[in-house]
Amino acid sequence: MRPQSIAIFFILTTLCILAAILAPSTWPWPLLFLLSALLPLFLNTWLVAPGGFAWLNVRFGNYAMPPGVIGWPLLGSLPLMGPLAHRKLAGLSKSCGADRLLALSIGTTPVVISSHPDTAREILCGSAFSDRPTKVSARLLMFERAIGFAPSGEYWRHLRRLAATHMFSPRRIAAMEGLRSCVADKMMVEVRKEMEVKGMVRLRGVLQRGSLESILGSVFGSELSRGDKEELVEMVSEGYELIWRFNWEDHFPLLGGLLDFHGVSRRCRVLAMRVKALVGKIIEEKRSSGIGESKQDNFLTVLLSLPQEETLTDSDAIAVLWEMIFRGTDVVAILLEWIMARLVLHPDIQAKAQQELNLHVGARPVRDIDIPKLQYLQAIVKEVLRMHPPGPLLSWARLAIHDVHIGKFFVPAGTTAMVNMWAIAHNESIWKDPWAFRPERFCEEEVSVMGSDLRLAPFGSGRRVCPGRALGLATVHLWLAKFLQGFNWVSNHPVHLSECLRLSMEMKKPLICQAIIRQHHESDGISHSL
Ligand code: HEM
Repeated sequence: MRPQSIAIFFILTTLCILAAILAPSTWPWPLLFLLSALLPLFLNTWLVAPGGFAWLNVRFGNYAMPPGVIGWPLLGSLPLMGPLAHRKLAGLSKSCGADRLLALSIGTTPVVISSHPDTAREILCGSAFSDRPTKVSARLLMFERAIGFAPSGEYWRHLRRLAATHMFSPRRIAAMEGLRSCVADKMMVEVRKEMEVKGMVRLRGVLQRGSLESILGSVFGSELSRGDKEELVEMVSEGYELIWRFNWEDHFPLLGGLLDFHGVSRRCRVLAMRVKALVGKIIEEKRSSGIGESKQDNFLTVLLSLPQEETLTDSDAIAVLWEMIFRGTDVVAILLEWIMARLVLHPDIQAKAQQELNLHVGARPVRDIDIPKLQYLQAIVKEVLRMHPPGPLLSWARLAIHDVHIGKFFVPAGTTAMVNMWAIAHNESIWKDPWAFRPERFCEEEVSVMGSDLRLAPFGSGRRVCPGRALGLATVHLWLAKFLQGFNWVSNHPVHLSECLRLSMEMKKPLICQAIIRQHHESDGISHSL
């Protein structure tokens, strides 16, 4: 027992006995005495487990336990998990000297957090953490039958193979260039109209509509009716709201739905029914319009034309299609909003990227094949992924499926593991001058963001690495290049870089800026689409 625990035990016992003695005589004395004896005992037991309440029953034997924080009784470190969780957890890991691994409790869930590339690699790439802890909302919204939350067995491998071949392969990404380009042109028309009417642009709405349109086109093709599109928009935003919302049931399962104050489970059930009805209807329509003759130009057609042995049931196909729309929409829009905010704040960097475009592309509309030549533009995207990663805690955590060692520490089966990519990307012993926005660092040193270099892995790493990363990056690069070709981006409003972590890390205050048409491009025809 640690000395501070013994001291706290005696102080609390004395205080409780004093309270019992001084309490009004009408109070039930035996009960008060019992409580006064139990309370410090309880608190003391809670105090001696370094990771807090959820680690109490873990038997470490001769193995080392990761350093940890105790947190609050029962709640553990739950109060930290708000909109700045990544920053608070980074501060905590640093102050405990626990960059490699920090143990804490979130309710009854034991959690470890890595803020170091070495332990991050062990978590993300080791086979022990190949599952994800399933939130109640994710299960109710059918994500357990989709890639993100399916346990890492044969079914999950089958889904990843399907997605890798028919949704995210280089050939499919190239085939979708026309769609992405056309969506970008529409967004630029919207920007120009907003400028004409209001003299400024709120980019967030434009980007969200564009991302959704682009992913809907890849998943369902171009035949979706306006009504269906609008309903999907509404369902995706309700889904974000539900999956992000804190649900007590996730961390206090024994209390069942008693603590579901926000009605998350009920709303998830209603939403899942709506998704099944709508996506089911779209599947039926596609079937009856004859898949055989149509080109395999979207993921739905591909799923419906699979050979018998690979085919998915309708309810599994619905879960997979729904997940693609859900995951593919917000991150791209959020990342681009951060990028544009940075470019508005750093006009010199914006001008340099435009010069690069002038040099390698000139006046014709930029295309996917130009992107490899646009090294500085790619460096800007990397620098934003480093400073403002959309998933600072890599969005959806991993679950230890058996007992495992990370470094010298023992981590029991059932522990949730998170990687604080934000902390790694802001660590001054890893990155020179980590608080400075300096894309040049990526021109001086080649760093891959695709998951092989754990100093910067915004898409995760290992077997569960983001399968949509190539599509996400292709979209962001092309749209950014088009935005910079078409406009100069400035602002007469202050640009706030404060963050808000919901499902992804958004700008707390939406970017408001001005888009000024680039004159020389207007004359040589580049603004044909505006
Ligand atoms: C800028 C864009 C994106 C970012 C920053 C991002 C980030 C992430 C991260 C951090 C993970 C967790 C990886 C891990 O646990 O190691 C993930 C998983 C995933 N992402 Fe992405 N993502 C992006 C775009 C997309 C797109 C466009 C799609 C699909 C259309 C997508 C679909 C998925 C799926 C299905 C998973 C779950 C993979 C699995 O569990 O096997 N992502 N993403």
